[in-house]
Amino acid sequence: MKYSTTTGKLADARTDCLIASLRTARTVARALHAGEFVEAAARDFIDKPGRALLITLPKAAKVARLLLVGTGDDALAPADYRKAIGAVATALKTAPIKDAVLALDDIRVTGYDDYQKARVALALLSSQLYRFSADRQQEEPQPAQIERLAVHCDARRRTATTRAVKHGQALDVGMAFARNLGNQPPNVCTPTYLGREARKLARDGRVRVKVIDERELEAMGMGAFVSVTRGSATAGKLIVVEYRGASAKEAPLALIGKGITFDTGGISIKPAAAMDEMKFDMCGAAAVLGTTKAAIEAKLPINLVTLVAAAENMPGGNASRPGDVVKTLSGQTVEILNTDAEGRLVLCDTLTYAERYKPKAVVDVATLTGACVVALGSHASGLFSNDQTLASALVEAGEYVWDRVWQMPVWEDYQQSLKSNFADMANVGGRDAGAVVAACFLSRFAKKFKWAHLDVAGSAYQSGPAKGSTGRPVPLLFQYVLNHS
Ligand code: BES
Ligand code: MN
Ligand code: ZN
Repeated sequence: MKYSTTTGKLADARTDCLIASLRTARTVARALHAGEFVEAAARDFIDKPGRALLITLPKAAKVARLLLVGTGDDALAPADYRKAIGAVATALKTAPIKDAVLALDDIRVTGYDDYQKARVALALLSSQLYRFSADRQQEEPQPAQIERLAVHCDARRRTATTRAVKHGQALDVGMAFARNLGNQPPNVCTPTYLGREARKLARDGRVRVKVIDERELEAMGMGAFVSVTRGSATAGKLIVVEYRGASAKEAPLALIGKGITFDTGGISIKPAAAMDEMKFDMCGAAAVLGTTKAAIEAKLPINLVTLVAAAENMPGGNASRPGDVVKTLSGQTVEILNTDAEGRLVLCDTLTYAERYKPKAVVDVATLTGACVVALGSHASGLFSNDQTLASALVEAGEYVWDRVWQMPVWEDYQQSLKSNFADMANVGGRDAGAVVAACFLSRFAKKFKWAHLDVAGSAYQSGPAKGSTGRPVPLLFQYVLNHS
């Protein structure tokens, strides 16, 4: 979707659809000499958040349609505002509207300034209007999809709104990029494919991309990473994207993504039911690449290093066995008791690799544990950190764009369960607190920097009839990076 800003008289807009509150729509209708027509059409309209009514105006009008947004008379609570915009998205999805103007001035939201009001609206619209172009012969008949949306505001609000539109546009592009990667089938989206997609980011002059192949990873001493990809016929890669938006002197932020392009579990193989969803096990990688794309798009004045640990976890003659002991890049050894706890194995070596950048902070993103889904479901991603300032900044960024996280402990007490008789640690603990124990494992490789870990196993994709990647936590990460720049 292409977003823009517009000012001036609403009745002069030339658009397929003007989206406005009842009050504004009435004024515009009168100016267009369609006052009575709209009054009649809107007679049964219930002016409440979550309601919307599409009215097609008589032929001659420049504004072809009015989309009434239910708001009521008072300032909206943020939750009601999201409901109101949600109803707009639903209406836009099912009508033959290619371009629209969204009049936000007269919709007030408690606690939001003009910037946040526009940002939240665009983030929601981007989320809901995204479509994956699946490869099939028979496309279901769909009405024309909306391609352009202008946010209308008073000239006095133009600066804030234009800024919101710029950032909303960048987020739209970044999130669509992440979702497309996530939704690709696992025979297409391999580590090599992720590397190729990452390389495209280097079309921007301030970006450098390096794809390190499996042999090199092995030579470097990334024994844990390599142990995961061994069983697969397709080679693992460590993908490095360096974005220089600020002076070279400034330490970068590092983003790390789990990019398991398919997780069978390996020799500790998973049950067959819903195993197809393990194509989404690279959604952490997709999210950090999407965030990077958004940062590039928005030309954020910041240095960013994005590391993607890309591998496929397969059983096979070369696959790791339960009981194998491997040496990590940090020198610590790991006894692999369960080959299905592979995410932490690729991530631990990538965390160590990040040390060379002397990063200001490191955030890793991973569909790491089923236990996190049990704990938090899909509403919040799990947050774990060794630095409370960093953790709080992530919580706040998530609240701001409504892509929320919930902090969980990384206490020393949980570390004991990783004890091994044959190595520095095992890669799994007992049954309890699986998401915390996984974070504890990672924390042993994050001693040299401020670090946070986001477990997005429950939030990065949906199951069921709406199966697909959600693009989370790109909104949160982009907001965090934005606040940082
Ligand atoms: N990719 C999975 C985690 C996962 C499970 C994500 C379900 C989304 C939905 C991860 O690699 C995994 O298999 N984790 C194991 C860890 C266990 C062996 C300690 C799990 O959660 O069962
Ligand atoms: Mn696994
Ligand atoms: Zn996995």
